[in-house]
Amino acid sequence: MAIERTFSIIKPDATRRNITGKIIAKIEEAGLRVVASKRIHMSLKVAQGFYAVHAARPFYGELTEQMSAGPVVVQVLEGENAITKYREIMGATNPANAAEGTIRKDFALSIGENSVHGSDAPETAAQEIKYFFADTEIVG
Ligand code: CMP
Repeated sequence: MAIERTFSIIKPDATRRNITGKIIAKIEEAGLRVVASKRIHMSLKVAQGFYAVHAARPFYGELTEQMSAGPVVVQVLEGENAITKYREIMGATNPANAAEGTIRKDFALSIGENSVHGSDAPETAAQEIKYFFADTEIVG
């Protein structure tokens, strides 16, 4: 199986509630390794750029406002099948549909304030990692 990297955001709803450690514990328990991490506060412009793929969606304004409303923890996660594995442990986008034991089932407040983001494919993982991290900041 391939060792992959994926990109994660622990969102403002989670930093606000002081549960970043609980979320990182679930990530590490799943066998994923945090190879880069920083706590940042995105400007609205940075959030708009990150979520540009959703620019035409009705929730884009609310999403980018929520993502720039407080600090986030951006991370690069590494491990076997990291992209799929992280999506599995995050659970469904809407916490109402998330499986038992997933991060979103345990912690998310709503579809908008759903505590975490994870890349959905290898191409987006590479783009998203590059959007926030220089190669020298990733120390696997
Ligand atoms: P995320 O994985 O960060 O990718 C896009 C985000 O848009 C998603 O998680 C949700 O937090 C947010 N969002 C808000 N409303 C919706 C919706 N109706 N469908 C999908 N995503 C939504």
